[in-house]
Amino acid sequence: MPASRPDRRHAETLSSQSLAVHGGNRLDSTQALRTPLVMANSYQLPEDPSEISWSATAPGLYTRNSGVNQVALEEKLVALEHGEEAVALASGVAALHAVFFTHVRVGDHVLVSDVTYEATWRLWTELLPGRYGIEATFVDVSDLDAVRAAMRPNTRLVCIEAIANPTTKVADVRAIAGIAHENDAILMVDSTFTPPPFFRPLDHGADLVVHSLTKYINGHGDAMGGAVIGSRELIQPIKADAMVDVGGIISPFNAWQIQRGSVTLPLRLGQHFASAQAIAEFLASDPRIEYITYPGLPEHPEHELARRQFGGAGFGGMIAFAVRGTPDTQNRFVAELRLITSGFSLGHDDSLIVHVGTEGGRVATYPEPFRRFGHLRLSVGLEDTADLIADLAAALDRTFGGPEAGGTRDEGALGDAA
Ligand SMILES: Cc1ncc(COP(=O)(O)O)c(C=O)c1O
Repeated sequence: MPASRPDRRHAETLSSQSLAVHGGNRLDSTQALRTPLVMANSYQLPEDPSEISWSATAPGLYTRNSGVNQVALEEKLVALEHGEEAVALASGVAALHAVFFTHVRVGDHVLVSDVTYEATWRLWTELLPGRYGIEATFVDVSDLDAVRAAMRPNTRLVCIEAIANPTTKVADVRAIAGIAHENDAILMVDSTFTPPPFFRPLDHGADLVVHSLTKYINGHGDAMGGAVIGSRELIQPIKADAMVDVGGIISPFNAWQIQRGSVTLPLRLGQHFASAQAIAEFLASDPRIEYITYPGLPEHPEHELARRQFGGAGFGGMIAFAVRGTPDTQNRFVAELRLITSGFSLGHDDSLIVHVGTEGGRVATYPEPFRRFGHLRLSVGLEDTADLIADLAAALDRTFGGPEAGGTRDEGALGDAA
């Protein structure tokens, strides 16, 4: 395995921008300046392979035990997140499951934020408790007394999102880490909405950070991956159990592509977040918007916490809102957008919007306006800010009747909801 450039000691002296460019890069015998893509499943074994452990977690054996491109990506993630070790897996969901599968046992209890990404919610409502006898309690993590009260002697894991999908609830990571540790529990932060260098949960006391690499870290909407970063003590068992034994390995090609995409991560985040702030302010000032939640708006319940915790570096790239009217009005508004695309996922270069209705298991746990009106989740991309605002303004005009529509097409919807 070729040596990594920069090496660990040098990496500690570099800024996030330099690490995003160089982290994990390695030269092989070709001296190519790009980390080579190694698409091999298997590697030549030494003369006497009998000593090699089937469950070794290093490259040079078999790609389910690790690979060159996976390690290169993991090294960059370790540097960016200030961790000790990382494991890259097939998707963000594979990473979440890897933490739960490895670190929670029959008879344990877990405490989960009442607002989480769908898969976390499903794993802790439908899959793990029934099949493995693990109890989960959902709690409003913005209420620290409620978090404290929900801890039990057998609470092994606390699971939160720094900014939660989709309501943008902000969790106080340092305070929750304190409560978890007083009870000998591990704190896992899904930091998909808050990638480094914007926020580093490990610096705030978290034990494990999970990312869907599919989102901001790759950033280009063309590769899936997930990662868990933390101490060697907590990551090594994930590699042995969830990677080698369960097989949620990342493909070498995806690891290579994500490593390439992540080169521009710090630069991209600046644009995503500045645009999101401008768009949120625009939407908040428009009477045709029913409600909006974005941590950068002063009326967001955790605005002050977000300002403190994220050190003034911005408030993320995700906005949730609804236009006035019925669920059908939300669909019509989305259909009127010309630049922003209706699609799942987030953190891509292109802006994506998805309409989520008022029905469905997880929705019951959302705040009142989400339950009553549904919501539009907007992932602000890298297009020009003014173009994005113009697209939203024109779609509002075409939906409700306004300067662009030249009429009063959906005044009814506005009236109904007013
Ligand atoms: C907060 C969060 N965590 C995890 C995931 C899952 O990631 P993936 O789609 O890569 O499995 C997502 C996907 O949207 C997410 O938003």
